[in-house]
Amino acid sequence: MDKKRVLSGIRATGRLHLGNYLGAVKGMLELQKNPEYETFYMVADLHSITTPFDPEQLRRNIKEVVLDYLSAGLDPEKSTIFVQSHVREHTELAYLFSTVETVARMQHLPTFKEKVKQHPENVTMALLNYPILMAADILVYKAEAVPVGIDQEPHLEISREIARKMNEKYGLDFPEPQRFATKGESVPSLSGEGKMSKSVEGSYINLTDTQDEIKKKIRAVPTSSNVGGEMSPGVKTLFKLLELFAPEDVSKYSTDYKNGTLKFVVLKDYLSEAIFKELQPIQKKRQEIQADPEYVEKVLKMGQAKATNVASKVLSQTKKEMGLL
Ligand code: TRP
Repeated sequence: MDKKRVLSGIRATGRLHLGNYLGAVKGMLELQKNPEYETFYMVADLHSITTPFDPEQLRRNIKEVVLDYLSAGLDPEKSTIFVQSHVREHTELAYLFSTVETVARMQHLPTFKEKVKQHPENVTMALLNYPILMAADILVYKAEAVPVGIDQEPHLEISREIARKMNEKYGLDFPEPQRFATKGESVPSLSGEGKMSKSVEGSYINLTDTQDEIKKKIRAVPTSSNVGGEMSPGVKTLFKLLELFAPEDVSKYSTDYKNGTLKFVVLKDYLSEAIFKELQPIQKKRQEIQADPEYVEKVLKMGQAKATNVASKVLSQTKKEMGLL
């Protein structure tokens, strides 16, 4: 029986943080070890240039994400690990897909509107095309499962819409990809407001943060002075993180909270400890991999070849049915 395909990617905007790790990477790892799936994991470098960027910084960031992937446990023996722009079929398929979506539909997406607000001086064609390229990333492998955070749901809806339209118009057989959700699908910001995000300073913990840095950041989460009653956003964030990193201790701390006996600093330091414990082996592995840059190059070359092999076939099939071949 043919394996179902999985594709996911993360933008190269810097090192990965806990939000990426819990929302996407953990799902990637789960599917990687499931023998029913064939997994493709990429660094979305072409999506990184839809917002303002610096070329030298981008070059470094691409490598950082690959290092984070490998140290978190993505395994080149089991998964195809590659850089999006190394497989040209993505952009070519995206162009073909752009013929079945209207400008109006793209302009009305909440993700597009948000970016327009953040960077009003940078409302480019690439930004408008973001969801089309993402659909091509997924469908160029005919992937059915996509491990990503819940914020990506509107983009997946577009991918399904494009698959339906292409199938209807040209008799193709694209699957309608579904999001593969993890428990940490939306990780709150350390400020208590919104989600953990690279673009908001003080909102995130990186996978590479030291024990001290983690402790400092967690201690800085705002908590109200009174314990018990309705939880403030900062306190909710602490409990959400506790649920993700030390689920067995949630009931003890929430009882303390209800009884008014909870000391926030105790909860915070315990939580920091739990987070660091999970990150420590990842950091150790990162150091090993970093010591061998040729290894990373080799992984990416192999990934490019394996990905291109699948993507070129799907692209050719599409071009044929569209009358281009
Ligand atoms: N848009 C995704 C994000 O910001 C990144 C991404 C690009 C992606 N292409 C993808 C995720 C394809 C899953 C599948 O997180």
